[in-house]
Amino acid sequence: MNLKQIVEAESRYLTSNYKKYPLFVEKGRKCIVYDYAGKRYIDLLAGIAVNALGYNHPRITNIFRKQLKKSVHVCNLFYHPYQALLAQKLVEISGLQKAFFCNSGTEAVEAAFKLARGYAYKNQLGEGKHEILTLDNAFHGRTYGALSATASDKYRKPYEPLVPGFRFVRFNAVDHLHASFNDRVCAIIIEPLQGEGGIHACSEAFLKAARDLCDQHRALLIFDEIQCGIGRTGCYFYYEKFGIRPDILTLAKPLGLGIPLGALLTTDAVAPTFGPGDHGTTFGGGPLACRLGFEFLKVLQDEGLLEEIREKGDYFRTELLGLKEKYSFATDVRGEGLMLGMQLDFPAREIVNRCLEAGFIINVTNDNVLRFLPPYIITKKEISKFIKALDKIFSEVAQARTEGSPAAALAGGH
Ligand SMILES: Cc1ncc(COP(=O)(O)O)c(C=O)c1O
Repeated sequence: MNLKQIVEAESRYLTSNYKKYPLFVEKGRKCIVYDYAGKRYIDLLAGIAVNALGYNHPRITNIFRKQLKKSVHVCNLFYHPYQALLAQKLVEISGLQKAFFCNSGTEAVEAAFKLARGYAYKNQLGEGKHEILTLDNAFHGRTYGALSATASDKYRKPYEPLVPGFRFVRFNAVDHLHASFNDRVCAIIIEPLQGEGGIHACSEAFLKAARDLCDQHRALLIFDEIQCGIGRTGCYFYYEKFGIRPDILTLAKPLGLGIPLGALLTTDAVAPTFGPGDHGTTFGGGPLACRLGFEFLKVLQDEGLLEEIREKGDYFRTELLGLKEKYSFATDVRGEGLMLGMQLDFPAREIVNRCLEAGFIINVTNDNVLRFLPPYIITKKEISKFIKALDKIFSEVAQARTEGSPAAALAGGH
């Protein structure tokens, strides 16, 4: 089948949840993706922060093959070595103490909400202590609990009524955070560096106030680092920068390097809330996924990738800032490490199409923010090639601006 036939077949046989770009992926190697026509693309999106070691990393491929020959799935009635090994590693790097494994980000978030409400209930922390605070620009997933903590009406409205007991706090508004807290709050969920929301960082003052208020009100602080965690910003977890620790941490995306794997980490104090039968999943924590996760964390350590991420991230950021100086329609550059965003003053989807044509994979979030989440192994040379290509595309936009709207100028051909 060619791309046209695949597009037709998908529209006939699949529900139409996704607005896809015209890229027909065959395979990848390191940071290069090949389509079925043999065209090469430098990948600066990594499957939306999943393919953190790019494609076909030799150590990962090797572990994959080895484990395939042994077992892919072992149900949670029995033991295999890799849940405990991965949990131990995650505990070592996070400062938390216990792990629960599941299959996706949204599932980790669901587990976090159940854990928080169950903790207040089982410890008799007070009548009606079940409210969960969330931020007004947040995205935590699409199942009912996670959706109830997600602000955008676009995602929520058609599916109401949602789960009761969620209230929204204005992003980085410390006063509003204080005003929103009371003894009925059992938890607040915060994505410290927001991804889907458009690459926005929570301020230190806001995060510290959240920690203090949770302590005062015996509520739990949940950090959702599904997108920004496990190395993406140049430290294992973004919260490390602030010297504060959550009570619950949710992880997913790169953890299984493409094999679905989510995790919830928590403290010894909170973990006993989940007793046998309280929460579970058939597939979560299988030997293949956990062994890959374990190897991923070892590669991060052995290859000194965190430092590299910081260095390459600084370079990438500086180059983007250079473009921002040059083009007035680029209004902001945000983010850290290899989680970066560039805001434009017009809808950016056509820029993504232009980048694809030029052989670069990026995406857009929040309508007008170009988002860059490359594999951790991206090279400076690859970043530099991309910057040159983006510069060229932007210069065409600037040229078109003098003649009409950039969106109109960029339309056509798609
Ligand atoms: C911060 C955050 N939380 C939760 C999710 C949901 O994860 P998943 O798509 O694996 O369910 C995402 C996905 O983009 C995310 O970025």
